[in-house]
Amino acid sequence: MSRPYARITGTGHAVPAFAMQNSDFASLGIDTSDAWIRERTGIRQRYIARNGETCVSLAADASRQAMAEAGVTAADIDLIVFGTCSPDKLLPAAGVELQAQLGASKASAFDLNAACTSFVYGLSVGEGFIASGAAKTVLVIGAEKLSGIINWKDRNTCVLFGDGAGAAVLQPTTDQRGIIARFMRSDGNLAKLLYRPKGGSAEPVTPEIIAEGSHLVAMAGRETFKHAVYSMNEALDVALADAGLTGNDIDLLIPHQANLRIIEATAKHGDIPMDKVYVNVDRYGNTSAASVPIALDECMRSGRILPGMTVMMVAFGAGFTWSSAIHRF
Ligand code: ACO
Repeated sequence: MSRPYARITGTGHAVPAFAMQNSDFASLGIDTSDAWIRERTGIRQRYIARNGETCVSLAADASRQAMAEAGVTAADIDLIVFGTCSPDKLLPAAGVELQAQLGASKASAFDLNAACTSFVYGLSVGEGFIASGAAKTVLVIGAEKLSGIINWKDRNTCVLFGDGAGAAVLQPTTDQRGIIARFMRSDGNLAKLLYRPKGGSAEPVTPEIIAEGSHLVAMAGRETFKHAVYSMNEALDVALADAGLTGNDIDLLIPHQANLRIIEATAKHGDIPMDKVYVNVDRYGNTSAASVPIALDECMRSGRILPGMTVMMVAFGAGFTWSSAIHRF
């Protein structure tokens, strides 16, 4: 018997109430401008968690929408794959906290940290569980509260990121809809181009570390940019070849939303016109693991994704990690 396909049957997303504009950085004493941020990144605003909004609370909102859309209840969920690099606590996993909040009593839950690539990695992980028969209903999450781990004094990074969450329910299907190709890669030799240098178990937080801010995100922007373009291109090429498709066959490309210039370069490489590329980085900034599932949910709800369409998701993040998935709806 052929293996079942893993199909996305419901999606959801949530962002904090507060939308921070580019012009708001002036009040923090950051030497930047709306013009610089828009021109270099395409970002206009980002949402920042406040008043008790957390990585898990946003994920719970997104999950409930995805479950309602899929017509499943918490009791149906077998597995929660929680993609994040900014969990509310370092122990235990955000996934188990989400499980408790949802009341998904029969689910197993764990976190997956591939930074911005976590959700697309998570789709492959969920697909594997479904294909093996180990799970029937998988909740894949990409959720971040990056505002808690970025350096608000570093203009090279603080203007880029935002908070948010997206969720998708994956279920088996035999009708040839679902994930038809996927690709995952990483290269830990490049870890120091985008990382939190200290504050983990190797060098636990001290007053000195806090004073120098080395427990927060540090990034070599230009180098990261180059690798992002190269790696997203590879992720595009390999999954397309694996599916026996070309860029022409893709009805919609949903790339990781880090920077409009990276998105445009990826689309150009794949020969995919920009009217088939979803862009929302202007409204959310880079929400890391949440960026692809937020975009996916917006496309589902606005009718950008219709039955029969072939949709490609592609992401790149710290690690470095990069990944793609092609899904037939
Ligand atoms: N406002 C004003 N000036 C700034 C700012 C700012 N916010 N940030 C940097 N600058 C200055 C720099 O200091 C530099 O000045 P200098 O020439 O006097 O030294 C100048 O602007 C140009 O800096 P660059 O870094 O060369 O600017 P670039 O065009 O490369 O854009 C950016 C920077 C937007 C960070 C870009 O490199 C980028 O998008 N990189 C990739 C980011 C990315 O994708 N990261 C996420 C991966 S995902 C994840 O896993 C979290």
